[in-house]
Amino acid sequence: MKVVTVGVDGSPNSLAAVEWAADDAARRGAWLRIVHVVDRSPYRFVHSPQLERQIARVTGQIMSAAEKTARHRRPGLGMRLEHREGRPAEVLRRLAAESSGLVLGSRGMSRTAGGILGSVSTQVAGHAAGPVVIVRDRPGRQVGEVVIGLDDSADCQRPISYAFEQANLHRAEIRALHAWSLPGHTYAPEVDYDIHAVRAHQRAVAANQLARHRKRYPALPVFDDLRSAHPVEALVEASLRADLVVVGAHGQAGSMVMGSVSRRVLRHARCPIAVVRPCARH
Ligand SMILES: Nc1ncnc2c1ncn2[C@@H]1O[C@H](COP(=O)(O)OP(=O)(O)OP(=O)(O)O)[C@@H](O)[C@H]1O
Ligand SMILES: [Mg+2]
Repeated sequence: MKVVTVGVDGSPNSLAAVEWAADDAARRGAWLRIVHVVDRSPYRFVHSPQLERQIARVTGQIMSAAEKTARHRRPGLGMRLEHREGRPAEVLRRLAAESSGLVLGSRGMSRTAGGILGSVSTQVAGHAAGPVVIVRDRPGRQVGEVVIGLDDSADCQRPISYAFEQANLHRAEIRALHAWSLPGHTYAPEVDYDIHAVRAHQRAVAANQLARHRKRYPALPVFDDLRSAHPVEALVEASLRADLVVVGAHGQAGSMVMGSVSRRVLRHARCPIAVVRPCARH
């Protein structure tokens, strides 16, 4: 059976992630796996029964708070609590590969790095084989819109697939947002662009990318939103009234580097963000 996995560390953000994950699991008829990863690396020079007792106690508290939150949110949902040992980001990346989605809070308990995203979220989103959803707040009222950020990489369709699947599960409509800008004139000031030709080309690229998915979900309303704007600004703005924004984790082929658009959207968006690796091999 399908599984949605959520990582918990006792923080309010991770409990918001539990609520989102419980909803997602219930919508897709999956079970919920709640995972806490015990990282022993800070204690590698300390061995004492007292430390073991403390770790067991804290793990128990984290798990029971997460379980209570999930049961309250979705009574009757099948769930399993698991604690693992290792580096949290590594363990969670592995679990993402075998889940319909891995859900994490944007921040966690330690907040050592400052900034908007914690180090575990940063190291997992865009670096896992499966979709990773980063949640900031407890789920609010449903808006009825799932946004997919499109770019020109037509060969890799997994982020689009995930967005259509989510819109279908949410009974929401899709906003297919393709923000584009004319190439800068820095290197070729003499080149003149035919703005209408560029726009027509961009429209064709967007339509082409969506065609297969429209066919698969013929009843799903799809709103084409082609704009001349910076993609980060457009996606962050769209996140103000969306249930979910889906972006591809574009790195250069074969690299583990997150694209700058995905990275910045992840930091600044106001609703949950799903980061989906475009191809299994990337
Ligand atoms: N040990 C863990 N086990 C399971 N999930 C975790 C663990 N640590 C973090 N997470 C998940 O990752 C999310 C973000 O936490 P993260 O650790 O990245 O942020 P932070 O604690 O604020 O910052 P940092 O740890 O980088 O100082 C949490 O809300 C939770 O969903
Ligand atoms: Mg942390």
